[in-house]
Amino acid sequence: MAYKLSVNGHTSTVDAPADMPLLWVLRDLLDLRGTKYGCGIGQCGACTVHVGGVAMRACLTPISAVGAKPITTLEGLSPDGTHPCQLAWQEIDVPQCGYCQAGQIMSAAALLAKTPKPTDKEIDSAMNGNLCRCGTYLRIRQAIHRAADLAGNGSTKSAAARNEE
Ligand code: FES
Ligand code: FES
Repeated sequence: MAYKLSVNGHTSTVDAPADMPLLWVLRDLLDLRGTKYGCGIGQCGACTVHVGGVAMRACLTPISAVGAKPITTLEGLSPDGTHPCQLAWQEIDVPQCGYCQAGQIMSAAALLAKTPKPTDKEIDSAMNGNLCRCGTYLRIRQAIHRAADLAGNGSTKSAAARNEE
């Protein structure tokens, strides 16, 4: 069946069975490989994308459930890799193997869109479903605070800003 999707601001029509997970539509039909396959059963968060602005597990979201809601993947988070999460992730050097990180960033971006200055507890609760086998959790939390700061929402100033005072 043909489905019209809005992905990262572009409209695409794909031919897929109704129960095809969005993960495979993105990766195999639209060639957007930033979204990763981890477990396929909603347990790891590697496949997290935004559907209608909400963080969703693409492995558990059938294409027929998407409708007209816009989809954002890591590739569409910013036009040039300058979303505050992307900048903070680079600055803090968060990834180790990197496999989980697209999903981590997409969950973090959804959290910050809703809660611009999250507490540690809010971060832990929002990021709870994103697993990292390399154990980068502390750097992820640090990077989310830094991203909030970069977005102008945080109270913690950067080291550079403090040095200029
Ligand atoms: S691949 Fe979707 S939650 Fe693990
Ligand atoms: S960085 Fe390796 S799984 Fe998270």
